[in-house]
Amino acid sequence: MPANIVIGTQWGDEGKGKIIDIISSRADVVVRSQGGNNAGHTVVNNGEVYKLHLIPSGILYKDTLCLIGAGVVLDPKDFIGELDGLEGRGISTANLKIDPRAHVVMPWHIALDGLSEAFRGGKDIGTTKRGIGPAYMDKYERCGIRVYDLVHPEVLAEKIQSTGKLKNKIITEVYGGEAFDLDAVTAEYTEYGKRLLPFVDDVSVLTFEADKAGKTIMFEGAQATLLDIDFGTYPYVTSSHPLSAGVCIGTGVGPKIITNIIGVAKAYTTRVGKGPFPTELDDEIGEQIRNVGGEFGTTTGRPRRTGWFDAVIVRHSVRVNGLDSLAINKLDTLANLDTLKICTAYKMPDGRVIENFPPTLEELEGCTPVYEEFPGFTEDISGCRSFDELPENCKKYIARLEELVGCPVSMVGVGPDRSQIIER
Ligand code: GDP
Ligand code: IMO
Ligand code: MG
Repeated sequence: MPANIVIGTQWGDEGKGKIIDIISSRADVVVRSQGGNNAGHTVVNNGEVYKLHLIPSGILYKDTLCLIGAGVVLDPKDFIGELDGLEGRGISTANLKIDPRAHVVMPWHIALDGLSEAFRGGKDIGTTKRGIGPAYMDKYERCGIRVYDLVHPEVLAEKIQSTGKLKNKIITEVYGGEAFDLDAVTAEYTEYGKRLLPFVDDVSVLTFEADKAGKTIMFEGAQATLLDIDFGTYPYVTSSHPLSAGVCIGTGVGPKIITNIIGVAKAYTTRVGKGPFPTELDDEIGEQIRNVGGEFGTTTGRPRRTGWFDAVIVRHSVRVNGLDSLAINKLDTLANLDTLKICTAYKMPDGRVIENFPPTLEELEGCTPVYEEFPGFTEDISGCRSFDELPENCKKYIARLEELVGCPVSMVGVGPDRSQIIER
């Protein structure tokens, strides 16, 4: 019956993996519903580090059913690599299912991601180059290859020929790139299909039936609100809907089954890739946050841009996702800074002050953050397990943050390990 959604409220990498892992420990079913291996979710258990990209984080619990819904774009080669990596570490993948409707990331999607980014020159998006955008383009163009096709060799061979010919033309004649040998692609992907066949099942039906049977379900968000194709900082976004509402479409269940929506944020802000970032710190404070917080991409290893907590963007997330509560991670990273700042609003070039995130980059341009300052803390909070144990300055920071975004904080992260969490 209880169905939780856990989603990102900033630009990704908020520590969703950790929160999802904690909630997975109490769930019977964990479902991924959008995105692909552009995601990188870290779970740390007693020093053991797991980095998951496509496989739901619930896989670390042997009895949990892990589902990959229709809204995901699946790179079979990477998926098999992840399967083997987990199996090699003694993690069973027997309880994993993939919806036959999910689209497959083909090698030309990856090539086209790189070629189109290069073509944009200095105006590139800074994608993860995993072929995510081109795979979703084909889905909406209605020429994509789906998991069902992948596991049916005759269908796959036919689709690779018809789609592949057009892709090769675009790659060679528009971008001057190299054509794919379609027979070789067919042989390679047919093998992937054989490996995936036992995992294919109707995730919409499985989720619906689990709910009816009174099981606890958790929907694992990937990416984040400000990367949403409509409600993010377009065009510097991903190509899916990482919002709470996206979960229903990407799984194939109605919104009435959802009982609780948790948004994950960092106690500050980071962004990897290009695009606006009003509270970005290009100074030694930003550098300190990056080094102390280990802010380097889980998927691409790129240094993450860092900045102060922006209540304007999280307020936007509270609204567009209908959040019930927030998990604030990495409060420990802010130790030893004399002053902490929270952006409460933006000042427009004409002097007006706005509290809602502007819908377009044109309107955002010229906006400057309005800050409120807080005294910092020097205590090591990584061992705190109750809210009362936190230093007064931390409590004040969290209390004001709750007020500013209009949402209660139900969890506070004080370190990367699954045990380093305060639940209220
Ligand atoms: P996700 O994409 O939202 O799952 O986040 P990532 O795994 O990409 O990045 C979050 C990083 O922060 C990972 O290295 C986590 O291990 C780490 N992390 C998560 N929560 C905390 C926390 O409360 N404190 C600290 N210091 N690290 C954390
Ligand atoms: P998790 O789930 C952070 C960003 C990329 C780029 C933009 C578009 O780990 O939070 P794409 O490859 O999706 O076309 O890239 O989106 N991006 C992420 N940033 N965390 C992620 O996932 C991301 N997934 C995509 O850096 O700016
Ligand atoms: Mg990540």
